[in-house]
Amino acid sequence: MKVLVTRRLPSRVIARLEERFDVDLHDGDVLPPDELRERVREAHGLICVLTDRIDGGVIDAAPQLKIIAAVAVGYDNIDVVHARSRGIVVTNTPDVLTGAVAEFTWGLILSVTRRITEGDRLVRAGGWKRWGLDFMLGAELSGKQLGILGMGRIGRAVAARAPAFGMTVAYHRGHHETRLKPGATAGGGTSLQARPVSFDELLVTSDVISIHTPLTPESRHIIDQRALARMKRTAYLINTSRGPVVDEAALAWAMRERLIAGAALDVYEKEPMVHPDLPGFDNVILAPHLGSATRETRTAMADLAVSNVLAVLGGQPPLTPV
Ligand code: GLV
Repeated sequence: MKVLVTRRLPSRVIARLEERFDVDLHDGDVLPPDELRERVREAHGLICVLTDRIDGGVIDAAPQLKIIAAVAVGYDNIDVVHARSRGIVVTNTPDVLTGAVAEFTWGLILSVTRRITEGDRLVRAGGWKRWGLDFMLGAELSGKQLGILGMGRIGRAVAARAPAFGMTVAYHRGHHETRLKPGATAGGGTSLQARPVSFDELLVTSDVISIHTPLTPESRHIIDQRALARMKRTAYLINTSRGPVVDEAALAWAMRERLIAGAALDVYEKEPMVHPDLPGFDNVILAPHLGSATRETRTAMADLAVSNVLAVLGGQPPLTPV
C-alpha cells in the first residue's frame, strides 16, 4: 500500500512507515493543490500538515484512500464531513502537544506583560541608555484573572499553570465543547480551580485572555471589534489557537485606539501573512506559529500520525480519530 507524506518527518519516524508501505515523501514546502491531487491518486494513506488544504477535490482524487492523518491537533484544513462520507478515517495528534503549547502560551503571556521582546529590540538597536526606576514598566500577573476561551485539553493545561503565577482562572467554553464536569482534573491529578463564566463576563473581567478554541464557524472572528471593546484597557490578548478566531483588522483598530494593553499572537488569518499594521505596535508580539515546536513534541506528533496510519491500514481502529 502507498502512503503520501506531504512534509518531511523525522527519519526514524519515516522508517516506521517504510517498513510496511511504499512511501511517497514530499520533501519541500507546501505541495501545490494540483500536485497534491495528482500524488494522492494512488495513496491508501495520507499524512498531512496544517498548511495542506484537504478539501473535497483532494479527497475525491484518491479513490483508495482510507486514512487522512494530520500531524496537528487542529483539523480545520480538512473537510472531515466529506472524508467521513467516503468512509475515510481522519486522525489528529491531541495530548502529545498539550504541554508544549501550554508552556509556549505562558512564554507569550510573560513576554507581552513584561515587555521582554520589546526590551530585546531596544537593546539590539542600541536604544538602551540607562537603568530607570520607571523604565519600561510592565504589568504584574499575581492577583490578576486569566480568562481562558476554549477549555479543552490545552486550555486546561494553561489554566493548570496559573496558580504558579498567582493568577485566578475564569473560562468560557464554546458550543462545540463537550461538557466537562466542573472541577474536572487538568492532568497530573491536579484539581483545577476555575470559574465558568459567560463570554461577555470573560471579556469584561479578565486581565489576560488566552484563546484555545478550535476554528469552527462559531469561533471564526469571535474576537471582533465588539469583543475587543468589551475588554479592560489594561488587558492582554493571547492567541495560540487559529488565526481566524481573531479579526486581525479589528485587533489593529483596538491597538490604535489603545483599547487593550497588548497582544501576543502565534497564529494569523492568512499565514504566513500578518495584518500590515500589527508589526507597527511595540506592545504586540508576533510569533511564527511555534506553539508545539519543540523537538520532543514534533517527534511525538509525527509518531502518533504514523501509528494512526499503521493501525488503520493494518485493519485496526485509529488511536486518535477526530
Ligand atoms: C498546530 O497548530 C496544531 O494544530 O497542531
